[in-house]
Amino acid sequence: MTDSVTIKKPFDSHVHFRQGAMLRAVTPLTAAKFSRAVVMPNTDPPIETVDQAAEYKKEILGAMPQGSHCEPLMTVYLTKNLTAVEIEKGAKSNVCKIYGVKSYPYGATTNSQWGYRSILEAKEVLKKMEEVGMPLLLHGEVHMNESGGEVDPYEGERLFIEDILPRLLDSYPKLKISLEHLSTAVAADFIEKHGAEGRLVATITPHHLLYAREEAESRPLLRCKPLIKSKAEREKVRLLVKKGLPFVFAGTDSAPHPESKKFSATPAFGVFSAPVAIELYTQIFDELGVLNLLENFLSINGPNFYGLPPSEETITLVKKDWQVTEPVVTDEGEKVWPIGHKEHGLGNETLRWRVR
Ligand code: DOR
Ligand code: ZN
Repeated sequence: MTDSVTIKKPFDSHVHFRQGAMLRAVTPLTAAKFSRAVVMPNTDPPIETVDQAAEYKKEILGAMPQGSHCEPLMTVYLTKNLTAVEIEKGAKSNVCKIYGVKSYPYGATTNSQWGYRSILEAKEVLKKMEEVGMPLLLHGEVHMNESGGEVDPYEGERLFIEDILPRLLDSYPKLKISLEHLSTAVAADFIEKHGAEGRLVATITPHHLLYAREEAESRPLLRCKPLIKSKAEREKVRLLVKKGLPFVFAGTDSAPHPESKKFSATPAFGVFSAPVAIELYTQIFDELGVLNLLENFLSINGPNFYGLPPSEETITLVKKDWQVTEPVVTDEGEKVWPIGHKEHGLGNETLRWRVR
């Protein structure tokens, strides 16, 4: 039995740091365990220019503890204000290089009100991204049908994969695309068939690997977009991970919201996983019998896609039961509950691996 694993320090290809007190509370948790993190731009107001990204980067670096070696990789939001000129500037910037453009379907999730109704309209920006090699990071869900009605949110990812993604791939043959937080069987099949290093990759969260719709529907801490799917769908996502493909890797989508927004009649979408994400991925890989694939998934494939070397530092995980008993508390006194918490998770949840 393996009870200790040492891997290069992980790369988080998808994290939300927010702003202000929330940012100050959560950023150190990612900085403690990850070498680099791709930072989502869905703040309010959104990050739509290189200058805004540079300011935001400063705020993030200011929240990292002295001596931490976690590099934030900045992105911009695909809003109607984002121009091809800004893409060119972001690709070249020495002050704040832009590592990707994030697309949210209008209305689908937290602060998605600035997203396009159809990403296919963003032609000039997408062309420029293709030209300069800047990745498109997709929230790959169809949220609305042509008459503006909401589609079944359990069907949104499938519709995106069947209808929108093939058109993007055809129209922009050199565009680098990352399908973020893959959660369905259809997406897993598509990526297995069409995924390719440097061209089409997918990221997977710990919560879409660990939980299932049956338990998620009644638990605000597991409410997120894409919604957590059925056990059968989760099985297909796990099978994809077990293949150890170089174009599939970790993106936690750690998305903190204050207690007041999570434990409400309409809980905000987002799973806060930064304090437990690496531990949960390790637990899942152990259960799947593929701990040998963990390092590629957590620490190698992500940097490869972004044209960066893997970390030279390492972390060690040991097999040891523990429980999360406290929420994170911001300096303004707001509680932020991570998944896996023993009261608000799935019961007395026990995590099986711990970072030493
Ligand atoms: O669950 C989610 N939370 N999905 C997203 O796409 C956004 C995120 C957030 O920012 O809270
Ligand atoms: Zn996200």
